[in-house]
Amino acid sequence: MKAEENELITRVEYGAPMGQMLRENFWFPAALSIKILPGKSPLRVRLLGEQFVAFRASDGRVGFFDENCPHRRASLALARNEDNALRCIFHGWKYGVDGTVLEVPTQPHNAAEFCKRVPLQHYPVREAGGIIWVWLGKGPAKAFPDFEFNHVPEDQVYAIHQQLPYNWVQDVEGGLDSAHVAILHSHWLKGIDIPYASFDTAPTYEFQSVAGGYRYAAIRNAPDEKSYIRVNQFVMPWYAFICPEEMPDGDRLVIFSTPNDDLHTTHWMIRYNRHRPLKPSYANPAPDRGDYPPAPTSGPEGHWGQDRDAMEAGHFSGFTRHLNTEDFAVAWSQGRIADRSREFLNEGDLAVVWLRRHLLTAVKEHMNGEQLSGMKGLAESYRAIKADALLIPKMNDWKALVLA
Ligand code: FES
Ligand SMILES: [Fe+2]
Repeated sequence: MKAEENELITRVEYGAPMGQMLRENFWFPAALSIKILPGKSPLRVRLLGEQFVAFRASDGRVGFFDENCPHRRASLALARNEDNALRCIFHGWKYGVDGTVLEVPTQPHNAAEFCKRVPLQHYPVREAGGIIWVWLGKGPAKAFPDFEFNHVPEDQVYAIHQQLPYNWVQDVEGGLDSAHVAILHSHWLKGIDIPYASFDTAPTYEFQSVAGGYRYAAIRNAPDEKSYIRVNQFVMPWYAFICPEEMPDGDRLVIFSTPNDDLHTTHWMIRYNRHRPLKPSYANPAPDRGDYPPAPTSGPEGHWGQDRDAMEAGHFSGFTRHLNTEDFAVAWSQGRIADRSREFLNEGDLAVVWLRRHLLTAVKEHMNGEQLSGMKGLAESYRAIKADALLIPKMNDWKALVLA
């Protein structure tokens, strides 16, 4: 990919075209619901290089404002959370959870009129799937990503996230790159067999464009003239629906990566089950859901925390804490922003190439003032999107079966 194209898909700060495209077309997952409690401290949130605060009023509603007070820019993360409003501790200006300016105690004349002119920036929010979602666009909100996981009961879905010090696009790429799984994660996958992999260790890949993204299938030969097919799906702008391990009623997985700024990313993972509560080990996997899976313990100066002794003792990668720590370490090692003009790709990278094409097309369309062409039909199909694993007669077409 050309260096300019790499800049175009990765940079989001200071009004960069990609940042603009994202904010005018997509809702952002912004915070874990459990991280903001009624009447308690506001939470600082960074997206697209800008600072925001999210807070929960005493009545349970969520407010989402620019972090800096519109008066003289003290942080509203320091504000008092009282009476369903934030009161800035500097001069006491008070902002209702719905964005109404309620009090300006330092204004002696016509305070009520003055309140109406205070330019507080506040943003629409939705709460679903254990996540606070925000609309940051200036234009009217586009369709909410009404995924299936936003509709299951609380004990059937969990969301976790981790902050990582590299660009969001390489994090999304990692989630779609099936080719690394059996190699990078080989230590963790010992004993977990992908069915029929022993019959056919080199699957072929097929792609299909769908509303808002694409699907791709890894197709393996299975006995009795059957094919074993694992299907993942990418949904604009950052969602990867990953084929689950247990079928057909097992847990489903969705991962996504939101840009805090050009060099920092929030890596989200959702596990959910449509039929039953999650197993206890999955329902509460981490002491802190906002700090999981474990990030690398060091940057380049410490080889990203790799444990060479563990490798000598037989561990493949030397990242012994968690499978995803391996993902984070290699992504970080690609550079804070991977230089895609200096790669040498092969067929195993096709899913990544498709992702880049989708992002590039969308950002160029947005720059030209056009509607995004790939989004037709997405709003209606959000809820049906799923990854899948199928065992089907060879002659049948997986594409027809995935939505069945
Ligand atoms: S800076 Fe917030 S009230 Fe003055
Ligand atoms: Fe991985």
